[in-house]
Amino acid sequence: MKNVAFVGLGYIGLPTAIVMCNAGLNVVGVDVLSEKVDAINRGELTISEPGLEEELAEAISSGRFRATVDMPEADVYVIAVPTPFTDRHDIDMSFIYTAAESIAPKLKGGELIILESTSPPRTTERLAQRILDLRSDLRLHQDGGETDGAELYFAHCPERILPGQALRELRSNDRIIGGMSQAATKRAKEIYGTFCTGALLETDSTTAELAKLTENSFRDVNIAFANELSMICDELGISVWELIELANHHPRVNILQPGPGVGGHCIAVDPWFIVSTAPDTAKLVRTAREVNDSKPEWVYQKISQAIESQANSVEQTAEVEGTPAVALLGLTFKPNIDDLRQSPALDIAVKTASRHPDHQFIVVEPHITALPDALADLDNVRLGTAQEALDSAETIVLLVNHDEFNDLDTSAFPPDRVIDTRGSWAQ
Ligand SMILES: NC(=O)c1ccc[n+]([C@@H]2O[C@H](COP(=O)([O-])OP(=O)(O)OC[C@H]3O[C@@H](n4cnc5c(N)ncnc54)[C@H](O)[C@@H]3O)[C@@H](O)[C@H]2O)c1
Repeated sequence: MKNVAFVGLGYIGLPTAIVMCNAGLNVVGVDVLSEKVDAINRGELTISEPGLEEELAEAISSGRFRATVDMPEADVYVIAVPTPFTDRHDIDMSFIYTAAESIAPKLKGGELIILESTSPPRTTERLAQRILDLRSDLRLHQDGGETDGAELYFAHCPERILPGQALRELRSNDRIIGGMSQAATKRAKEIYGTFCTGALLETDSTTAELAKLTENSFRDVNIAFANELSMICDELGISVWELIELANHHPRVNILQPGPGVGGHCIAVDPWFIVSTAPDTAKLVRTAREVNDSKPEWVYQKISQAIESQANSVEQTAEVEGTPAVALLGLTFKPNIDDLRQSPALDIAVKTASRHPDHQFIVVEPHITALPDALADLDNVRLGTAQEALDSAETIVLLVNHDEFNDLDTSAFPPDRVIDTRGSWAQ
């Protein structure tokens, strides 16, 4: 049975390591955070993922899984460390290189090293080069070349699971397996074949890297089209929701829904890796990013206009004196989750409340119990309920279409005091 070292025990690494172990592989999970490692060894979850706690317990009791901060010797290394971008939207290679530097001294030759982190084209080659620079006694495996056991095998196998459904999707999604040689692809396929019932799609490492980025760019470009339509419709004084509904009756048209911007750590990040790879060619991908990144500012301007019209209403100002005046519904980056990372809704809320210090804001976010620091630090913001928002706000803004908000009755608000960035309340 193969020994696997899984490097990086985060949203992707921990569930994947556990699923690999429960499929029968011997897995050592490696992370740089000792508190995280200790918690995992105690069977405590460090991320929220349905079913994972039970599977972690199963993995620990099998005796085939443990977590550690020390890189072990292994037959297979799988790397799932962060790949953020720099100020210039290039990949920050530091996490991958640090992982490479801790793996290199453990290698004997014959090992398979898989990069799972989302990465620009040729990152797997850069990883391989870094390791080979540190180990001049080892070589990159090449198909058809002589082998004497000193070869290393590299592959990129990108991850496309949806947090919240990670365990099911890890086992059932199709997977792209891109080796730097055909033998590397075959070896990686054997590993994923132990737990993945989806199709295992063979390719080379560069195509695999670009395929993952392409999937998220496809979403980003299509959302940008919908967001641009929403701004055009606003200029024309017509409903974008009706427009898209009508256009989608065409048998070959399927326009996505606009929103307040694109957030999270995948769709808002990955297209930039295509732009940084081909800066002069990736015009559409770049423009889509710019359109989507401009949408929060556009929403902020709409809210400011509503607040100004509210403030200009003399009798309302008198009536609501001392009471919350603006309700902001939703802070997360997408509906029905608790993740605030790179959330356009959060950015809009912080900007609006800090630039309108004379107004009170009720923030309604059913998936959190305390305001994030950027809002908690503002005197004019408090966390409230949807009912309080309906009862006491003069302007109501839907930023995230959580299920709880879909049926709210906003008919008592004048139309110019209802800002629905998601189309949940559209007629
Ligand atoms: N979260 C997702 O939904 C998702 C989906 C698809 C792909 N990805 C990609 O997967 C990769 C990992 O993302 P994530 O969300 O799991 O990140 P994360 O931040 O949740 O986890 C990364 C883990 O790596 C650890 N780490 C950092 N450097 C290390 C090192 N040198 N050695 C060992 N451990 C190290 C960190 O301590 C952390 O626990 C990224 O490239 C991301 O783009 C994420």
